[in-house]
Amino acid sequence: MALWEGRFKKELDAKTNDFNSSISFDNRLYKQDILGSIAHTKMLAKQKIISKDDANSIVEELLKILNELENNILKIDFEAEDIHMFIESELTKRLGSIGKKLHTARSRNDQVSLDIRMYLKEEINNVIILLKKLINVIIEKAEENLDTVMPGYTHLQRAQPITFAHHLMAYVEMFLRDISRLEDTFKRTNILPLGNCALAGTTYNIDREYVKEELNFDDITKNSLDGVSDRDFVIEFAFDISVIMMHLSRFSEEIILWCSWEFKFIELDDSFATGSSIMPQKKNPDITELVRGKTGRTYGNLMNLLTMMKGLPLAYNKDMQEDKESIFDSIDTVKMCLDTLLPMVKTFKVNKENMKNAALKGFINATDCADYLVRKGIPFREAYKITGEIIAYCIENNKNLENLTINEYKQKNCNFDEDIYNSIDLINCVVNRNIEGGPSPIQVKKHIEIVKTRLKKEKI
Ligand code: ARG
Repeated sequence: MALWEGRFKKELDAKTNDFNSSISFDNRLYKQDILGSIAHTKMLAKQKIISKDDANSIVEELLKILNELENNILKIDFEAEDIHMFIESELTKRLGSIGKKLHTARSRNDQVSLDIRMYLKEEINNVIILLKKLINVIIEKAEENLDTVMPGYTHLQRAQPITFAHHLMAYVEMFLRDISRLEDTFKRTNILPLGNCALAGTTYNIDREYVKEELNFDDITKNSLDGVSDRDFVIEFAFDISVIMMHLSRFSEEIILWCSWEFKFIELDDSFATGSSIMPQKKNPDITELVRGKTGRTYGNLMNLLTMMKGLPLAYNKDMQEDKESIFDSIDTVKMCLDTLLPMVKTFKVNKENMKNAALKGFINATDCADYLVRKGIPFREAYKITGEIIAYCIENNKNLENLTINEYKQKNCNFDEDIYNSIDLINCVVNRNIEGGPSPIQVKKHIEIVKTRLKKEKI
């Protein structure tokens, strides 16, 4: 019989029960539900709302239930409506009328919000830890490639010379922003909703501050209606995850390109690539394609959450039960993708020679040639035009800026001298871009040190 048996004369229709039930997916909240109930019980005893003895029995039994669930001794009853109902009925089964006292001054509405907040707090930290691991792996690769020259691209066309370290560190910046977004979301998740009860608080003299301290929250919600109907923190986390996935997807896309025969900038370790069932020569970057592919479902989850909330009157509505599958799926997806990408990135081999060769083609030092003329006193737009003509000449005559003779240069402009070759040397082009944020090895090294110090300072 359901917990509301007093008001109802009939059992819930079986199919309706299945439709209404969330236990198949919210059972993962069992630990948070039990720890929340324990804090609540201790508070009820402290405030003399229930007796100390009753509270002790409830806490002891809840701990047993937790232990049994953790060791697979107690099986979840999937006939229950949700994890909250399951644990409460299990407690009542064991303790009789004492168990029935647990839900005093509480509703499932503030209880479910508490459980999700506790669960998300843990998961936000887990995602941050994985991001930091990925950043460290990328930094290791960057340190090995401080002077590995490669073309930087715009429009996927070779544009200007950079280093592989510089390119990799761009992703580090993205993942650092992801971490700070998560830390910000954590602040708004770390607020205790318990005590709002169904929607209007309670007439009991509860101590919300005590529960806040017990459960390690930063603050308590300030309006009971908002406290039970707010899911902004779920949406924020889903958004943060979508942005992380967008970054992982861009990284994956580049890895896919770099592995192709057209680029051959990197080679994946055999343990993280797959073959083809028919083409013996193939070595496919399936993992990165899956990361790119899975990004879509996290956007879908975010859209689901936003849409689910948009028409809801205050306060709790059952629609909100739909928040869990979406956010759980996003969490599982991003963790799985980070976990799988980590060793793949750690083990890929960098083909410095091919990067250099690509950098030697495509006239990526053309800007440096124009800048050379500027330094000789020619206005930039004019220098740009002269260099354009030189490039056209090179293309026509199958030459590049490095092997044009000094006479050919001088024919285009009398300001050219022998030192042009120094100015367009690829290594020099990179080394001379020695401004903050630039690709010169000195600057990238500095950037790496800044990131390392920042990561060391953080708590998790
Ligand atoms: N399973 C519900 C959920 O996930 C718990 C809260 C139900 N509250 C209620 N009054 N029906 O949202």
